[in-house]
Amino acid sequence: MPRQIILVSRPTGSPTAENFALTETDRPELAEDQIRVRNLFMSVDPYMRNRMNDVKSYVPPFRLGEALQGGAVGEVTESRSADFAAGDLVLHMLGWRDEAVLPAKHAQKITVAAGLSPSAYLGVLGMTTLTAYVGLLDIAQLRQGDVVFVSGAAGAVGSVAGQIAKLKGAARVIGSAGSDEKVAWLREIGFDAAFNYRSAPVLEHLRDAAPDGIDVYFDNVGADHLDAALVMLNDHGRVAMSGAIASYNATEPQPGPTNIRLAITKRLTLRGFIVSDHRDRTPAMIAEVGSWLSEGKISHSETVVDGLDNAPKAFIDLLHGANTGKMLVRL
Ligand SMILES: NC(=O)c1ccc[n+]([C@@H]2O[C@H](COP(=O)([O-])OP(=O)(O)OC[C@H]3O[C@@H](n4cnc5c(N)ncnc54)[C@H](OP(=O)(O)O)[C@@H]3O)[C@@H](O)[C@H]2O)c1
Repeated sequence: MPRQIILVSRPTGSPTAENFALTETDRPELAEDQIRVRNLFMSVDPYMRNRMNDVKSYVPPFRLGEALQGGAVGEVTESRSADFAAGDLVLHMLGWRDEAVLPAKHAQKITVAAGLSPSAYLGVLGMTTLTAYVGLLDIAQLRQGDVVFVSGAAGAVGSVAGQIAKLKGAARVIGSAGSDEKVAWLREIGFDAAFNYRSAPVLEHLRDAAPDGIDVYFDNVGADHLDAALVMLNDHGRVAMSGAIASYNATEPQPGPTNIRLAITKRLTLRGFIVSDHRDRTPAMIAEVGSWLSEGKISHSETVVDGLDNAPKAFIDLLHGANTGKMLVRL
């Protein structure tokens, strides 16, 4: 029988294994225009933590007793749609299960480029890279010669954001991450400077790495990182507010930056965005990042965990930094 992961309780603070359960489910007959997909890879993403809370947001919360959802790639095994045939590879949003049944219009056919795994469409050619691309180019309006600081730099979004900044003409790119191994990897993939935010205050590191200040801050973390970036931003600096992972497991409201007034005196632009509003940029991202990949100009890393039963652990570990690059579950 197909299996799925359901949400059995909502976490307080960090999620634990007890919030999830692996259950078996029926295999329904397909209705007209539906397809059945055997999932090959599913994504675990920080935004899923927010969907575990019962709060109104840009996506509805996960429902108790029901299977979780999220990005997945898989192979069509049965089709009642003229647009899909058995064997087609598709991207869709019914992850957290071995097998998905969905309307054909909710699936997108993918053709895997030579040398890539289908998992690339969940990472380096998928949603996380689109976030990096849109955040840097459209939201922060990156310019030639900018000094760019990226937090969460060894993760899926951050590692690609830093490399796109370099490829698009940034003068200097600085990244922060939570371990010395991640910092070493960031240097290998082309960051000009990188630091371990656990070893000293972010502001201290940033003063060393960017003595003349920064022009763009790609914020994946919030908290102390945003506070330090506000100090180091040059006049007319731009902030792409992508995420605030430092507070996703918080049980109390978190204080905002202590120095937000600097946005006034420095004439800064701080702009939040949600990647799903920018899907129209996907073809441009795939064309540009795809050619950088084939030319060997961009590196990407995946941390792959095996088995649906390990998906909750992969998700919990992602929130605690177990991944380098994109965190994925192979099914
Ligand atoms: N706006 C959008 O539409 C959009 C779309 C996708 C993702 N995002 C955001 O982008 C950010 C990165 O997402 P991702 O998918 O690429 O995940 P990721 O960066 O691959 O994984 C999460 C990383 O966050 C870091 N982290 C955890 N707690 C932290 C803390 N207290 N302080 C600093 N870093 C911490 C960990 O790395 P360390 O070992 O370095 O701590 C962990 O590896 C998240 O904030 C996410 O919500 C936004």
